Amino acid sequence: ALAVSVSAAAQAFPTKPITFVVPFAAGGPTDTVARQLAEAMRKHLDNATIVVDNAAGAGGTIGANKVARAAPDGHTLLVWHIGMAATPALYRKLPYKPLEDFEYLGIINDVPMTLVGKPQLPANTYRDFENYIRANQGKLNLGHAGLGSASHICGVMWQYAVKLDKSMATIAYRGTAPAMNDLIAGTIDVMCDQTTNTTQQIEAGRIKAFAVTTAKPLADHPLLKHYPTLQEMGLKDFNLTIWHGLYAPKGTPAPVLQKLNQALRAALQDPDFKKKQADLGAIVAGPRDPRVTPEGHKAFVAAEISKLKTVIDAAGQYAD
Ligand code: MLT
Repeated sequence: ALAVSVSAAAQAFPTKPITFVVPFAAGGPTDTVARQLAEAMRKHLDNATIVVDNAAGAGGTIGANKVARAAPDGHTLLVWHIGMAATPALYRKLPYKPLEDFEYLGIINDVPMTLVGKPQLPANTYRDFENYIRANQGKLNLGHAGLGSASHICGVMWQYAVKLDKSMATIAYRGTAPAMNDLIAGTIDVMCDQTTNTTQQIEAGRIKAFAVTTAKPLADHPLLKHYPTLQEMGLKDFNLTIWHGLYAPKGTPAPVLQKLNQALRAALQDPDFKKKQADLGAIVAGPRDPRVTPEGHKAFVAAEISKLKTVIDAAGQYAD
């Protein structure tokens, strides 16, 4: 009887609107990925309604826990990024276990980051930017989206790479959408943020950009190709790209997981989704990317957890 009821449930899935929990404020990089993904995935879920729930706080761990504790029926999913792997090194007591309390549905994309400054920052090249930060240590502040957010991790890695004597003051926001408002207003000086959030602001001249964080230049992007990589600027080995994944609560029935993974993989091939993401500098995971399978996604995150622990332990003085 159980088998019949499970497969009946899977056949009927979804039986109500699906919620994508985004663990940061609306309008930021994670929210942008979630909303664009929802638009592409619903076409493969009988045009289900997909709503976004911005459950922000504690660098994304509050929203993640909300999904870990949700009913395991496939109607509540988590869209989160590298923070899934960075937060274990930063939060002594996470309310969930990353590798045990979630079902892994697959990786969505990889998003480059940009080092950006307020419009009044007296620098136009990366060299000027780095020299200005060095000359004003302890006086400039960096905005981010909480401990373990992508913007926080990038700030930690960059300060460690340039070996600042004094770590920058930091202002934490519920996401980099509100942080971006303060950067544009000049309330904060610097941020390292994802191209999904910075590309349009750079294009509009509302903020200054100095470099990208990827190992290779973004040669395919008409605007971002003009910015050097941090490796070209002498920070050898600097290579940071923000991957995003999709998760369900542990215990979600296998046929439901399969239907969701299939809808995700179909969305990743959706030309409109790929174009929208590419316009913002993001690269949607390809069909042969091993991370688009549940096993590949989980193995990748497990490796990222240990890699980021090493990085964060080394750069500890910049991480709090
Ligand atoms: C981050 O820094 O982790 C993200 O940009 C936060 C967000 O999506 O707002």
